[in-house]
Amino acid sequence: MVITIDGPSGVGKSTVARAVANILSISYLDTGAMYRAATLAVIREGVDVTIETELLDVLARHTIGYAEIGITLDGEPVASDVRSEEVTDEVSAVSAHAGVRSQLVEMQRRWVADQDGDAVVEGRDIGTVVFPDARVKIYLSATPLVRAQRRAGDAEASGKTVAEIAAQISARDHTDSTRMASPLRAAEDAVVIDTSELSIDEVVDEILQYVSADV
Ligand code: DC
Repeated sequence: MVITIDGPSGVGKSTVARAVANILSISYLDTGAMYRAATLAVIREGVDVTIETELLDVLARHTIGYAEIGITLDGEPVASDVRSEEVTDEVSAVSAHAGVRSQLVEMQRRWVADQDGDAVVEGRDIGTVVFPDARVKIYLSATPLVRAQRRAGDAEASGKTVAEIAAQISARDHTDSTRMASPLRAAEDAVVIDTSELSIDEVVDEILQYVSADV
């Protein structure tokens, strides 16, 4: 069974998705980490993020992996490198290219097939594009202020004020939801959960109820 969890940054997707996967004893895939690893490769090669053919050449030269240790680039663990300010600033531009997306979507489907089709998959377009036939689709939302406050606790955001983080989040939201290729939006058949006033456990419990109603 595939459970899709989509939503903008700072809604608690990763924490919730990881907890649901743990409880169900199935795998967890953070697709944002894949877009970030692709962006890290692009930055390391000094390629212009606006030229799709060059981005595809970079992807062809590198291997992105996702395992127990987290995200890897050519076998090197890069979980903390992909959270750098530089990657965060460029990842929306890289992930806006349709060609880049189709490569990564293919990679994500293959990864789930390798887990015998059982996984919690987190991202922006998982319920709409990557696994449109998934039976449990969740879309998490939260107010921009709550999301900025949550992000303020992340290493990625260290040294920034909540207002600065909120501005960065809304710039990224704008690019992610207005891009032509697979914009961020809830699938029509997704359950939308506003997490602004909920604890992690409450969100996880609500998702588990949808899962058990489906099996
Ligand atoms: O979830 P995150 O912040 O690590 O995601 C980083 C970026 O990757 C985000 O700005 C949008 C992009 N992304 C995407 O376009 N599609 C996905 N399925 C996951 C992430």
